[in-house]
Amino acid sequence: MTTTPETFVVGATGLLGSRIVTSLLDAGAPVRALIRPGTAGEKQAALKALHSRGLELVEGDLTDPAEKLADAIGGATTVVSAVQGGPDLIVDGQLNLVRAAEKAGAHRFIPSDFAVDITKLEDDDNFMIGWRRQAAVAYGDTGLEVLSVLNGAFYEVMIGFMGIVDWKAGTVSHWGDPEQPLDLTSVADTAAYTAAVALDPQAKGTHRFAGEVVSMRQFHQALQRATGRTLTLRTLGTADELRAEITRQAGLTQNPFDYVGLQYQWCMVTGKAKFDTLDNAKYPHVRPVPLEDFVREAAPEA
Ligand SMILES: NC(=O)c1ccc[n+]([C@@H]2O[C@H](COP(=O)([O-])OP(=O)(O)OC[C@H]3O[C@@H](n4cnc5c(N)ncnc54)[C@H](OP(=O)(O)O)[C@@H]3O)[C@@H](O)[C@H]2O)c1
Repeated sequence: MTTTPETFVVGATGLLGSRIVTSLLDAGAPVRALIRPGTAGEKQAALKALHSRGLELVEGDLTDPAEKLADAIGGATTVVSAVQGGPDLIVDGQLNLVRAAEKAGAHRFIPSDFAVDITKLEDDDNFMIGWRRQAAVAYGDTGLEVLSVLNGAFYEVMIGFMGIVDWKAGTVSHWGDPEQPLDLTSVADTAAYTAAVALDPQAKGTHRFAGEVVSMRQFHQALQRATGRTLTLRTLGTADELRAEITRQAGLTQNPFDYVGLQYQWCMVTGKAKFDTLDNAKYPHVRPVPLEDFVREAAPEA
């Protein structure tokens, strides 16, 4: 008989972490979640409403001393990180969390990776992915089973703040080869797969999931079908020209967040961070939403 592992989630107030919590609860698994002291009343109320479904909240911070964090983890066997932030959080904070998980006697750790195939990149291809790669090296000596979940790009990001789709102007702008396949998944489906991995006692290593694998041309066509709108597909330049544009922008700003969206696009349009295989079939109960259905619901009104 298998037992359902108890999970501890950090980042439960966030976009993805909140969905991971509900996916775990939907699966009937009790969850312990860390919330920061002073978390806004609205966010806290939303989580407190899940108490009757099996969510227990504990106050703390990823940067707390490992002993304190270990107390927060309690008897959980699987620790899930869905935090977002700088290297203080992604590298040092997650290392601290792993050390705390070791102290608490947990067995498994799911880091806040949730990206394109970070194993295939160099640290400087994308500075945010670089931090995740540095974190993996930092906790590389852990006895915990590290279960990395990769999802490509969120559908939400592709039609939202990545700057690819300009709904007002009616354009879809891309760099590189429009036939290059891209791995894309919704936030909710990424959370559902993460919960499936967290609750699978056989899970090992890196898992790669995609709601859909589509080229930029197919992405453009799906958007048109979903909205009934005619959108213009614009080519901004080759992948090499994109790399040059990133270098140019890096020379103009002290803030790398100004051009990280372009770094993500470069990783995707070159195919460098494309998944070689998918693990969707391991969890057939997760039925990812097709891109077109997602866009039909999520696209802004014309
Ligand atoms: N593949 C993609 O397209 C894509 C797109 C977006 C994000 N992601 C990834 O998804 C993951 C989660 O991102 P997100 O957008 O869901 O992040 P988010 O909405 O910004 O949430 C971040 C979470 O981290 C928590 N946090 C921040 N600092 C903390 C600390 N010191 N101690 C404890 N908790 C702390 C926040 O808590 P508070 O509420 O207290 O601030 C919040 O719950 C990241 O790995 C991110 O890179 C992937």
